Amino acid sequence: MSGALPSPPIRATRAVVDLDAVRDNARALARAVAPARLWAVVKADAYGHGAVRVAQAALEGGADALCVALPQEALALRAAGVGAGILVLGPTREAEMVVLGEAGVWVTVADAAAAGEARSAARRLPQAARPLAVHLKVDTGMGRIGCRPEEAPRLARALAEDAHLHLAGVFTHLACADEDPAFTRWQLERFARARAEVTAALPQGVRPLWHAANSAGALAEPRSRLDAVRVGIALYGYPALPPGAPPPPPLRPPLSLLSRVSFVKRVPPGTPVSYGATHRTAGERMLATIPAGYADGVRRALTGLEVAVAGRRVPVVGRVTMDQLVVEGPADWEVKVGDRAVLLAGGEGPDAAAWARHLGTIPYEVLTGLSARVPRLYVGRGGAATGAEEGSAGSRDGAAR
Ligand SMILES: Cc1ncc(COP(=O)(O)O)c(C=O)c1O
Repeated sequence: MSGALPSPPIRATRAVVDLDAVRDNARALARAVAPARLWAVVKADAYGHGAVRVAQAALEGGADALCVALPQEALALRAAGVGAGILVLGPTREAEMVVLGEAGVWVTVADAAAAGEARSAARRLPQAARPLAVHLKVDTGMGRIGCRPEEAPRLARALAEDAHLHLAGVFTHLACADEDPAFTRWQLERFARARAEVTAALPQGVRPLWHAANSAGALAEPRSRLDAVRVGIALYGYPALPPGAPPPPPLRPPLSLLSRVSFVKRVPPGTPVSYGATHRTAGERMLATIPAGYADGVRRALTGLEVAVAGRRVPVVGRVTMDQLVVEGPADWEVKVGDRAVLLAGGEGPDAAAWARHLGTIPYEVLTGLSARVPRLYVGRGGAATGAEEGSAGSRDGAAR
């Protein structure tokens, strides 16, 4: 067809995800938390990295199961052939529980109403899909979903006594594990008390898995590890730890945001740059345009951040626009169209932690904020770096970390 784009279309701006880094991180984390099981949190498209590929790599690296936020995230993994255990962390309604139960996905029950919906859902399941596996969520200090600790024994017993349900787990979520160890200990004490009371209330032989830790808990507070840990951000190379925590195992960020220079020009002093003309060059300068903008997740507030272009650290100047941004270098900068731009990587360019500091946010928001318009390309074992562009991106990304 005349005028067709190359297939698959390769944008100069792309997120390259190193599956070896995911695998190695999972391996290091599994070793660090053993004998607790490592559950990889792959909600929000694996924090922007691509849920299916990351899930597979994390499982290969030693993760034992997966956690997502939404039913559709679990079903997308199943549709892609992921057979591992999957827990939907968020609340679900009866109709969703039926579909999840048919797919063998574990659901969260956080109050008596949800327990009732789970009972009804289980009865709507085909015989082969029963019992419906549920995890009871107890709120020990997060103030989000979850029953009060004193409600847990009665709820757990009701779930365990229903022949169509399987009480597979009881869990809580740590609110301050990366900031306040004393608060974490208080939550863990509340959870331990709930555990003793729930255990006493359960019928003989019912032994749910107990889990509480996120990345920070798993790495900084060994007592939070219990039977399984739910690790997200550390898998993506950005362990968030409280002050005084022991150093984490070696982890590396799998994701780099790369692009190429799309336009260059030498400009005289006083040249205005971008909307609002908020920046004017102080002298003769080279301006290079990069085809990435806030519609890709390169936020407007990133103006001033130094990125790596053509091997040099240069600041983003003027306003970041929807699809393009401008960097400024000295007048003798030998930059040309097609030169490599590392917008986010660590090492060669700023990493997600540097973006987060610049934006006044956290790496989670940076990573999940990369939009669907940015193609994800996979390198490392199992990556599909086949095209010339992907191959070159892949081979050079090794150096970019
Ligand atoms: C219930 C629950 N468990 C575990 C995690 C993983 O947290 P982290 O990415 O800090 O490891 C999250 C993420 O927000 C969560 O909501």
